[in-house]
Amino acid sequence: MTHNAQPRPALARRSQELTGTARVPGDKSISHRSFMFGGLASGETRITGLLEGEDVMRTGEAMKAMGALIEKNGDTWIIQGVGNGCLLQPEAPLDFGNAGTGSRLTMGLVGVYDMETTFIGDASLSGRPMGRVLDPLRQMGVQVLKAAPGDRMPITLRGPRFAAPITYRVPMASAQVKSAVLLAGLNTPGITTVIEPVMTRDHTEKMLQGFGANLTVETGADGVRHIFIEGQGKLTGQTIAVPGDPSSAGFPLVAALIVPGSDIVIENVLMNPTRTGLLLTLQEMGGNIEILNARNAGGEDVADLRVRSSDLRGVTVPAERAPSMIDEYPVLAAAAAFAEGETLMQGLEELRVKESDRLAAVARGLEANGVDCTEGETTLSVRGRPRGKGIGGGTVATHLDHRIAMSFLILGLAAERPVTIDDSTMIATSFPEFMGLMKELGAEIE
Ligand code: S3P
Repeated sequence: MTHNAQPRPALARRSQELTGTARVPGDKSISHRSFMFGGLASGETRITGLLEGEDVMRTGEAMKAMGALIEKNGDTWIIQGVGNGCLLQPEAPLDFGNAGTGSRLTMGLVGVYDMETTFIGDASLSGRPMGRVLDPLRQMGVQVLKAAPGDRMPITLRGPRFAAPITYRVPMASAQVKSAVLLAGLNTPGITTVIEPVMTRDHTEKMLQGFGANLTVETGADGVRHIFIEGQGKLTGQTIAVPGDPSSAGFPLVAALIVPGSDIVIENVLMNPTRTGLLLTLQEMGGNIEILNARNAGGEDVADLRVRSSDLRGVTVPAERAPSMIDEYPVLAAAAAFAEGETLMQGLEELRVKESDRLAAVARGLEANGVDCTEGETTLSVRGRPRGKGIGGGTVATHLDHRIAMSFLILGLAAERPVTIDDSTMIATSFPEFMGLMKELGAEIE
């Protein structure tokens, strides 16, 4: 079933101080991988804290369609995996809805199987480039039997009898592409090597090691990573506690910074250094964010964040930081709208191929709400208006993009006039509790 719900507009207005304690849902990247690796591994995997957003549920459905048994018992998801190399040909196309991560990682995982698999998605996903994953798969011997022009979905893949191990240098900073090749390597004889010039989120590497894969990483003096995975090894089911998603935490975090008088705590947030770019940037802007109870849970760093409203000032966000905050630029732009001076964000080329062209969507949304900004080919600069004077009054086109929807609702909480978004339904893909959680903190959203 592709996304065809009626659009549901929403509106956020200037709110009184936000207070209280919140827990954001589980990390999306780790949740997808938990379902995938649990469904693949031999034996039982138990998951708590899983994000039950639409995107992740699609990955669960896909794994079920290929033989995994997945059920929920109380708070725990319990998976009986098929064993590495033993996925079954699905009877129907795998529908990934809005989910780039689910679809691209699964293309890698099953593309190399000697079977036919078809991938479909909603209008947003069907517009996104898949060649970045299909190119390395072709080198491994995978046939692309069908694809829409420009290597877009619907896509049908057929793997060879035995896939060929390759050495692949990832041409763009993308954890999805890196992961797709590593997952293809799982069912390929010999050693598949991924060269990653710029480090991106490392959940695939860490979690595959946890499931028992023979995966090693060597990092050169220049920071270039070589990741080696030995194919056809055994994976064994694990127990996983998914920490809170730092990308989702970004929304209440920015809200508390920009709404005067706010003081909130966000508990159990993933602090993996490949994901903390937004935090660093907001601290550089003068954001009052205290990191409490820093701890390690199940191999990942987590902490609680105490956030108090702050007078922000514009900064330059360097291109090297983009991989560690790639999903957070829309909400950073909302923060920048209230900062003194200009915030310049560099190295944003990957934003053009997210759930929407996020660079354009953010710029148009800011303009519609009276915020002065300049959209470059790979940059965005935002000239802020402290205390939100003159901000708001516009309607934002969200283009089936959950993060555009949530970011502009956050903007509205401190704007002089209300901010409307044309559709809030996509928020359920990554953060179904968003509206309730924000209202609980005192946000005026309807
Ligand atoms: C993700 C990687 C990123 C990110 C996405 C999740 C992942 O995409 O934007 O939300 O879980 O690997 P890219 O690899 O395309 O940068």
